[in-house]
Amino acid sequence: MSVAQDAHAYFHSQGVHEALAEAVKQVVLENAPDALARIAELLAARSASAVAPAPARPPALCTYLETVGNTPLVALRKCLPDGVRAARVLAKLEMSNPGGSLKDRIALHMIEQAEKEGLITPGVTTLVDFTSGNTGIGEAMVAAAKGYKCVIVMPQVPAMFERYIICRQFGADVHLLNPAAGGDAFIAYVEELGAKPGNFYLGQMSNRHNPEAHVLHTGPEIWAQAGGQVDFFVHGIGTGGCIAGVGSFLKSQNPQCKVVALEPSEARMHTGAPMGKHGIVGWMPGFHSKFLEGVDLPAAELSDAPRGVVDEWGHVSTPECVAWATKVCRDEGMMVGPSAGAAIKYACDVACRPEAAGKTVVVIVPSHGIRYVQHPLWGPMKEEAAHALPATPVADKGAPILQWDSAAQQHD
Ligand SMILES: Cc1ncc(COP(=O)(O)O)c(C=O)c1O
Repeated sequence: MSVAQDAHAYFHSQGVHEALAEAVKQVVLENAPDALARIAELLAARSASAVAPAPARPPALCTYLETVGNTPLVALRKCLPDGVRAARVLAKLEMSNPGGSLKDRIALHMIEQAEKEGLITPGVTTLVDFTSGNTGIGEAMVAAAKGYKCVIVMPQVPAMFERYIICRQFGADVHLLNPAAGGDAFIAYVEELGAKPGNFYLGQMSNRHNPEAHVLHTGPEIWAQAGGQVDFFVHGIGTGGCIAGVGSFLKSQNPQCKVVALEPSEARMHTGAPMGKHGIVGWMPGFHSKFLEGVDLPAAELSDAPRGVVDEWGHVSTPECVAWATKVCRDEGMMVGPSAGAAIKYACDVACRPEAAGKTVVVIVPSHGIRYVQHPLWGPMKEEAAHALPATPVADKGAPILQWDSAAQQHD
């Protein structure tokens, strides 16, 4: 290959061959005394103009995990009762997170903090946690996106159906435990598993980065979106991380803000009652939150008096949660899960009180209703669909075109 061909190939590979050809043409036209210096000058001027701003485009895409958080805060309208006195009841739509719940926030924050502390390495560490709710899904999602192996531990009960298939679809492994063994035995199992070489126990129930995610993100988002006015904050207690984190942040901005923590009426353990069976998925796992004051007190010393960040210990029953999840779906077109139905019911009660007149009530919607197809919430629709969609469809072309009209069935 000649020197000229070499040079041509080099300039071609650098994408400057056209520019060079033009510069040479220009130098010949100008009959410049120092041709090489003039070519260099022309090329430099051209590359400076090449860094001029690019034409307008849609905003740059971010990575998938950057879509966690910054969820909408919307005003509830048609589900509000007639006697409502509050100026606004605002719902924070945590189902808009990419993994479908508010737990994406703590999953991402706990994992990224462990990375910052040098405790875990993608492709090497297996992340482990116990969860009967949405945290496992968030953790399995973040683990998949970042390249960690993941083991999610949950009780072997039918209600885990959606969580099981979603975690498995993200590539996580699932360990199912004897549901009769109880909360302490579950934690002992997962702590032992998490302590094995190569494993890391995320521990949402006691990891301080759980409430911290809400102090750093959820709380400030709510405060800014509500325009700096929040008078009541209403949310259920699972790990207690959200109520502790958001509650303390909101009180730091407005010391008068009332924090209302909710439990199932059947299991008011934070007020000293025994654990009872309930269907508000995500609330009350069977022990006192480690993030809320009173965790070290015996049940007899707990009451519903204000304690720590919590001003009011409210409660909602499982039938009320079912009724309200359905009501919110039909009135607002907002498909919420059982715990959101319960929390919105209580937020509406608060909004009707005289002391709420003209005030702002904020309630968390933790997750989307479609995630709970095994819940009694969906019982009537599932039963209807079983009749509407027979396992063996009609095969006769001559049969009537309309085989099922749900409206006609209801009136029959
Ligand atoms: C659906 C749902 N609602 C409410 C909560 C309560 O949130 P936290 O664990 O921050 O107390 C959870 C927690 O698991 C949940 O999954």
